[in-house]
Amino acid sequence: MCGIIGYTGPQRCLPILIDGLRRMEYRGYDSAGVAIINGKGVVVKKDVGKIAALEALVDADPPHGTIGIAHTRWATHGEPSQINSHPHLDCRGHFAVVHNGIIENNESLRETLKAKGHKFRSETDTEVLSHLIEEYWDGSLEKAVAAALRLVEGTYGIAVVSDLDPDKVVGARKGSPLVVGVGNGENFIASDVSAMLAHTKQVVYLGDEEMVILTPRGYRTQTLNEIPVDREIEEITWELSQIEKGGFPHFMLKEIFEQPKCIQNAIRGRLMEQTGEAHLGGLNLTDDELRSVERIVMLACGTSWHAAMIGEYMLEEYCRIPVEVEYASEFRYRNPVIGPNDLVIVISQSGETADTLAAMREAQRRGARALGICNTVGSTIAREADGGIYIHAGPEIGVASTKAFTSQVAVLAVFTLHLAHVRGMNPEVNQELIHELKAIPAKIERILKSDAQIVEIAKMFQKTTNCLYLGRGYNFPVALEGALKLKEISYVHAEGYPAAEMKHGPIALIDEKMPVVFLCTRDSAYDKVLNNMSEVRARRGRIIAIATEGDESVRERADQVIWIPHTIDPLVPLLSVVPLQLLSYHVATLRGCNVDQPRNLAKSVTVE
Ligand code: F6R
Repeated sequence: MCGIIGYTGPQRCLPILIDGLRRMEYRGYDSAGVAIINGKGVVVKKDVGKIAALEALVDADPPHGTIGIAHTRWATHGEPSQINSHPHLDCRGHFAVVHNGIIENNESLRETLKAKGHKFRSETDTEVLSHLIEEYWDGSLEKAVAAALRLVEGTYGIAVVSDLDPDKVVGARKGSPLVVGVGNGENFIASDVSAMLAHTKQVVYLGDEEMVILTPRGYRTQTLNEIPVDREIEEITWELSQIEKGGFPHFMLKEIFEQPKCIQNAIRGRLMEQTGEAHLGGLNLTDDELRSVERIVMLACGTSWHAAMIGEYMLEEYCRIPVEVEYASEFRYRNPVIGPNDLVIVISQSGETADTLAAMREAQRRGARALGICNTVGSTIAREADGGIYIHAGPEIGVASTKAFTSQVAVLAVFTLHLAHVRGMNPEVNQELIHELKAIPAKIERILKSDAQIVEIAKMFQKTTNCLYLGRGYNFPVALEGALKLKEISYVHAEGYPAAEMKHGPIALIDEKMPVVFLCTRDSAYDKVLNNMSEVRARRGRIIAIATEGDESVRERADQVIWIPHTIDPLVPLLSVVPLQLLSYHVATLRGCNVDQPRNLAKSVTVE
């Protein structure tokens, strides 16, 4: 989604702003722009296309100045075009605004402003903000911004500069992330900490409907009604190297290869093998409260929803508690039965997904307690949840989620262990799960060694236009995830199905041109899946199997086999998904696709 960076300090701001935009490129965008106060006025440079296009534009006539804001836009209102790119100016060009989110009442505000004589240039909702600020201007930028925002319905993360109040950057947020970066004699604002990590690790997270006024000398936070708010400075623990490619051609590949380390980070210090217990510091739930939970409802979107499905299977198997998994986007718009005896688990890598956040708020409004399983520290879901578990996967930059998925599954296993222990389940079963979980990182390392073989398989299938992924039990969500990975980065149509459902419809698709990826590991569904494989073979489908090392029965039936080590059923997804991530990655790169920034996709979906 859109990215914001702002700077005020002694340095020339253009290189800082461009570097910040580059670090947010992964979020997905279609145009980019900057606004800089240059001592004479506000200079705006913007264009459709990549940041390189913006760089070419500013190189031709570089704006000089030490205060500025910049933006990458992912179009919502109005097509991607130069005129619709941010920053947006008011009629006389004094107020430049960049904005993430959607102003829902922009039509009526636009009509009112037009009636007062304001002239609009773009089709965007954002432009109403610059004109509103112009309308309320009375000598103080923050007062004008606050007055404008009090009229706005919808969501926003904004940054504003003006040559009439020239050393300030004013920011505000509601439903869209905005973080202050506190420097030494300079200050930053960004929608994503990675944009300013090269300059500072001291950050302040703004709350909803809060504003910040930055100058080179300091910052202050307040509500839209101008009541001061105290916000603590927090320290970012990420290193700059974590948001760089580290020798890999793409972030996605780097993140796939980081998974052994990520799983270790997700489970570190949380497991006690001798007693079969798990420790989770941030749940904010007593053992008695956990025992009284009657049902768990999991809410998530996309890949996180697939992780939730695996969590459902684990929690029902180990804790004998009913679990429901729902798309957050569906949950929020029906009339769900949910209340104080339900525990809601919200899963989100970014912690900012608009649908997931809204679903969590709805569940909380109805009296349920919400736990957040998030990656991004300080994200809105992490802060608004009643308790939570960080997955500690480190920044995930590739748009296609990989290491966050396996880390989410690992954390769900830890939570399952904790709940099983509290609810008095058999400790030996827990001990086995802990033992196997600890062995997962080394097993993933082994799978990663098959990368060269997977490249060869990808070459055979790179021209395919369709692909079916089949799995059963714990491997069914993996089939869904494998299909999602392929379609989102290679634009090949792919479907994930429970293997047994194949004969109820999808089998009609099978012919000698149809690749079918089978997840056929030695688990409780093994014999049945093997039969399904024979059914596909009988119809001359082309089979790629993910199978347990040394399985001759699978070798006989499949055209290609990618081997994975054995583990217990609930942990199979942590292994079986890895070859599917690699397969999608290689198919996509062979097809010349931009894997880190696939078309139309954004890393963090902060609009409905
Ligand atoms: C797929 C992918 C998306 C996200 C979904 C939820 O690779 O990345 O499907 O999983 O948008 O995002 P989070 O987990 O940030 O809430």
